[in-house]
Amino acid sequence: MSSKLEKEVRRRRTFAIISHPDAGKTTLTEKLLLYGGAVHLAGSVKARRAQRHATSDWMQMEQERGISVTSSVLQFDYAGFKVNLLDTPGHQDFSEDTYRTLVAADSAVMLLDNRRGVEEQTRKLFNVCKLRRTPVFTVVNKCDRPGEDPFQLLDDVEADLGVECYPVTWPVLSDGKFVGVYDRIDDRVLHFHRGEDHGQTRVETEARSLDDPELERSLGADTLAQLREEIELLDAAGAEFDADAVRAGTLSPTFFASALTNFGVEPFFRRFLDLAPSPVPRETSEGAVDPESKSFTGFVFKIQANLDPKHRDRIAFLRVCSGRFEAGADVMNLRSGKSVRLAQPQTFMARDRQAVEEAWPGDVVGIHDRGSLRIGDTLADGTQGEYKDIPRFSPEHFARVRIGDPLRRKHLDTGLRQLSEEGAAQVFFAESIAGPAPMVGAVGPLQFDVLLHRLEHEYGVTATLERLPYTQARWVVGPQKDIDRVAAGYDRAQVTDSRDRPLILFQSEWSLQRTVENERGTLEFHSVAP
Ligand code: G4P
Repeated sequence: MSSKLEKEVRRRRTFAIISHPDAGKTTLTEKLLLYGGAVHLAGSVKARRAQRHATSDWMQMEQERGISVTSSVLQFDYAGFKVNLLDTPGHQDFSEDTYRTLVAADSAVMLLDNRRGVEEQTRKLFNVCKLRRTPVFTVVNKCDRPGEDPFQLLDDVEADLGVECYPVTWPVLSDGKFVGVYDRIDDRVLHFHRGEDHGQTRVETEARSLDDPELERSLGADTLAQLREEIELLDAAGAEFDADAVRAGTLSPTFFASALTNFGVEPFFRRFLDLAPSPVPRETSEGAVDPESKSFTGFVFKIQANLDPKHRDRIAFLRVCSGRFEAGADVMNLRSGKSVRLAQPQTFMARDRQAVEEAWPGDVVGIHDRGSLRIGDTLADGTQGEYKDIPRFSPEHFARVRIGDPLRRKHLDTGLRQLSEEGAAQVFFAESIAGPAPMVGAVGPLQFDVLLHRLEHEYGVTATLERLPYTQARWVVGPQKDIDRVAAGYDRAQVTDSRDRPLILFQSEWSLQRTVENERGTLEFHSVAP
């Protein structure tokens, strides 16, 4: 008989949805919660999104603490699985946190608009998954309205991202209308019937095998003939299903759906839960740690600061990696060597925060912290190795920091150091006549507003930012004379990070690509800190 730990690990599915704004992430999330029974009527996530958009001011948004904190992780049960859906902030709050969340996920769902295919933000997020060999499942959304031909769309995805797609479901179109999906694994057609409630409840579905004579009657002879033809094409030309390739992130099981009408959502989700990995061993400085190992381990991937200056406490988001997490236990922060009490831990169920007594590998727990934790910290109840640092991702927005009162420089330095440790922005230094001048870099520009607000309210430093024209940064490895030579170009700058590692900033992607080509064999360029 398997132990409680094994059982809990094997039923966990921890994933994030990666998409470009407007592909339908909010709508899909809402439908998954609906199927998971976490909300009875779909609509609550949407309401929250409307609220978020209405308050475009991040500060105000954050002051309504409940909103952004609870939207970070959604946990619910579905078909015997314990699902942890990690929110990847998009829209105007796209930031390094979005990337870091992917490090905490065991798989990702890439959601595409059926007319637009792969878009910029999808590509960036997909590349982070690729780098980490995270399994990616593809959902082509909005199939209720005409889109790109599915064969063409998948060809484009494959060419763009360098991944193979394996359609697990295929859309059934009748007179151009999306009426069902064919499931290639069990060779059945799921024919959907539209309800009257605009997708607020489950969809009525009729399931028939491909050779069931009733199928022709319900779909119509032409529709069925076209479907058979497409299936033949898929079988003849497409990739084979290969579970190892899925786990390695090189083959993406692909689904067709309409989050708006719910068509295809449940067939996707069931297959996804079956095929997606439960927590797998993760690398530490002393080898891989198995999630079923008895010792508790986890790492911090996100810190949410409280903007109210009277309450300096923060919530650190801990991804449990092995063993059992127990509220109130004393564990060790392996970086600092100090003991940490797992005080007042919380999980997040739809809109509510709940106190949690125990958690298992794959779960994300919010713990109160008074400033002792940093992003990337490993917490453990023994002396295991540390989880490999969460990488710093290359920023795309840069600004020089200026302060009105030079006597506050020390406070500025402290603030920048602490805020960068916490992951609010990255700090770089450029040589200037007056010594190293601080610059900040961010993945999303909203991070700058947050930074200025926090410098002022937490460190008493009034600063301004002078935006710089760079859009690309690369950590660079090679002889210093070559770094100096390359950085001397007119649209470049050389800076160092907080650990004194050199980077070169570029004004354009084109300039960066050309330099990488020209310097092949001399310099190495890294988009993630080496
Ligand atoms: P996001 O979180 O990825 O940004 O996307 P969101 O779910 O907010 O969806 C963006 C728009 O796309 C919304 O329309 C939404 O209704 C629509 N949408 C989502 N899924 C589907 C789908 O399966 N089919 C179709 N046809 N549309 C879909 P909107 O007009 O911006 O908002 P609303 O007026 O519908 O609220």
